[in-house]
Amino acid sequence: MQNLDTILKHALEELGGIDDPVELEQAKARYLGKSGAITELLKGLGKLEPDIRRESGARINKAKEAIESVLNARREAIQAISLEKQLALELLDVTLPGRGQDMGGLHPVTRTLERIQGIFHSLGFSTVSGPEIETDFYNFTALNIPEDHPARAMHDTFYVDEAHLLRTHTSPIQIHYMMAHEPPVKIIAPGRVYRVDSDATHSPMFHQLEILWVDEEVNFTHLKGVAVDFLQRFFEKEHLKVRFRPSFFPFTEPSAEIDMGCIFCEGKGCRVCSHTGWLEVGGCGMVHPNVLKHVGYDAEKYLGFAFGMGLDRLAMLRYGVNDLRLFFSNDLRFLNQFD
Ligand code: DAH
Repeated sequence: MQNLDTILKHALEELGGIDDPVELEQAKARYLGKSGAITELLKGLGKLEPDIRRESGARINKAKEAIESVLNARREAIQAISLEKQLALELLDVTLPGRGQDMGGLHPVTRTLERIQGIFHSLGFSTVSGPEIETDFYNFTALNIPEDHPARAMHDTFYVDEAHLLRTHTSPIQIHYMMAHEPPVKIIAPGRVYRVDSDATHSPMFHQLEILWVDEEVNFTHLKGVAVDFLQRFFEKEHLKVRFRPSFFPFTEPSAEIDMGCIFCEGKGCRVCSHTGWLEVGGCGMVHPNVLKHVGYDAEKYLGFAFGMGLDRLAMLRYGVNDLRLFFSNDLRFLNQFD
C-alpha cells in the first residue's frame, strides 16, 4: 500500500504536466487502463484478508477518483487551450467594414446595340443573326463579289481553312436570311466581324450592324427616311444633318456613303471630323438585282435597300471615346464609367 502513495504521487504529477490530448490518454492508460498500475492493485485485492481488503479497496478507489478528477480537469484545460489557439488563428474582426460586391454592368457596345435595336424595332424591324465562320459564297459570291473581284482584296480576310473564313462584314447575314425567308424582309443583323487590321480606330474583331428591307415597293426614299430617323433618334438631335454621298459597293446599286453632321463641332470643323464638318457612319444602297437572284427572289418584282454601320464607331461617337481598343481591353476603370 506504500506503493499506492507513490503511484498516486507520480500520477498526479505526471498528468498535471501534460497539455497534449493524445499524451493524456496514453498516461491515463498507464494508470487506469486494463493493465494500468491502479488496475493491477485492484486485481491484487482478492488475495487479501477481508478486513484489509475493505480498507485497501477504499484507499485504492479514492486514489482512482483523485486521478480521474485530475484527468478530467486536464482534459478541460487542454480543450480550452486548443480552442484559444484556434480562435487566435482564425481571428476575425467583425467590426471591419465589408469589402463590398460590385454589380456587373453592360458593356458600352452592348448598351449601344440595345439602344439601336429599340429604335429599329419601333420601326418594325426584327433582329436576326448569322454564323461568324462563313464560306466564300456567303461572304463574297452571293453578295455579287465574284472571285478575282478587287473588293475581295480590300477586305483583308482571315481564312480558317481552304473553304472557310471569318466573316469580314455582317452583309452575309442578309443572304442567309433571304434564302430562308420569302419577302417582305425587314431585319437588322448585328454581330462580330473580323479583318486583318489593328490601330486606334481598327481592331481585328469589331462589330457591325446590317439593315435590310426588301418588299415590292421599297425605294431610296425609304432608305433615306429610315437612316435619317435612326441617326437623329440615336444621337438625340432632331436637326442632325445627314447626307448621302455616291459610292460603290458590289452588292448595292446605286450605292452611297452615309455622312452625318459632326456632333462635336456642329459642322464647323474639328479634329474628330478632320475639319470637314462631316462624319462617315456607314454604307448603303439599293440591293443589287444579282444579290436578289442569288437568293432566289424575283428581281423584277422585289426591291430593297440595305445599309451597314460600324457598331463600335457609333458607340465611340455617342460616348466620345477616341480609341476603339478601349472597348476590347477589359479595363474596369474604363468600363465602370458606363454603369
Ligand atoms: N458590308 C460593307 C462593309 O463592311 C458595309 C455595307 C455597305 C453594308 C453598303 C451594306 C451596304 O448593307 O448596303 O464595308
